[in-house]
Amino acid sequence: MTTLLITGGAGFIGSNLVGMLAAAGQHRLVILDALTYAGNLQNLAGLIDSEHVVFVHGSITDADLLGKVFAEHSIDAVLHLAAESHVDRSIASAAPFVETNVTGTLRLLEAARAASVRRFVHVSTDEVYGTLGPDDAPFTEQTPLQPNSPYSASKAASDLLVRAFVHTYGMDCVTTRCSNNYGPYQFPEKLIPLMTLNALEGKSLPVYGDGRQVRDWLHVEDHCRGIMLALEHGRSGEVYNFGGYGERFNIDIVQRIIELTGADASLITHVTDRPGHDRRYAIDPRKASTELGWQPVHSVEQGLAETIAWYRSNATWCENVRSGAYLDYYAKHYGTSL
Ligand code: NAD
Ligand code: TYD
Repeated sequence: MTTLLITGGAGFIGSNLVGMLAAAGQHRLVILDALTYAGNLQNLAGLIDSEHVVFVHGSITDADLLGKVFAEHSIDAVLHLAAESHVDRSIASAAPFVETNVTGTLRLLEAARAASVRRFVHVSTDEVYGTLGPDDAPFTEQTPLQPNSPYSASKAASDLLVRAFVHTYGMDCVTTRCSNNYGPYQFPEKLIPLMTLNALEGKSLPVYGDGRQVRDWLHVEDHCRGIMLALEHGRSGEVYNFGGYGERFNIDIVQRIIELTGADASLITHVTDRPGHDRRYAIDPRKASTELGWQPVHSVEQGLAETIAWYRSNATWCENVRSGAYLDYYAKHYGTSL
């Protein structure tokens, strides 16, 4: 049985990935997570106590800790998801994004290289490609990197470090770039969970600008299957784009959430637009399809309905996230504070 290090495993995508990998039962899993505001150990309830899943609390910027983790757990491969991930937070303060996404990725690459891991999968974003006009062709892996926010700039910088480690040191690395994910366990600062919880609570739904920005929505399970396929079948040094064939205007997503929750349409409030707001993202995933045999299976229509049903039926998770009680889960679980 091989051992995978999953960074950011207590976050939205990481915890879904840990759940899927644990269910598949083919690997031992070591999760490294700093438990920032976005990390939620509740997402891993029922998993972190299993024999094959170990949780390590710490930062990817901590070189000493990384050295110990690689040595003590005999890591075979890395799935790197830890990041500061929210564009609005990066606009408010860019420095934590450079620290975690750039410096943290560098430290992780160095530690993985020193430990001679077999493969490093770097999970990145389509936002590194910048923005598209309404009639532009979707992003391919050949699209130039033109990041527009501090978040996407920090992710692009990390992608380039990964590329440099392949070319300079011969490390085996694969980079994935996906479109906007949605699904269970997403922190309610991102569009779909924020609008869902606000709609369920009868709070206002803040749509930036005219709401005619376009995002391509990818169900988190489809993304996680892509990461697993990249681990198994990706070619070192290559980039694979994952998209959901799910382009929608933001305002249409919000209107659909109103229908599915039974909320009042008058809750929609157009607020000042995000500075530098990318107008449209779209992904051409044909390389992942051809080389990895990957296809998204969730339609936005069905996936959105299932996701809203998940938030409705997981009221305790939602309440703990809204109140901040989730931050105490570590102390309750391990009997010691963070
Ligand atoms: P998230 O914000 O939900 O989770 C990030 C996790 O990383 C959290 O558990 C947090 O505690 C942890 N973390 C943050 N800083 C850390 C550090 N210094 N050391 C260790 N752990 C740290 O993010 P997500 O939405 O799950 O995204 C996961 C990855 O996928 C990120 O790299 C992100 O850039 C990428 N991505 C996300 C989306 C999306 O739509 N959510 C789309 C494209 C790419
Ligand atoms: P978000 O979920 O923050 O993802 P990203 O910025 O990485 O694409 O936002 C998705 C889209 O929704 C983006 O165009 C910004 C918009 N948005 C709103 O209109 N209102 C909101 O409150 C939020 C959080 C996002």
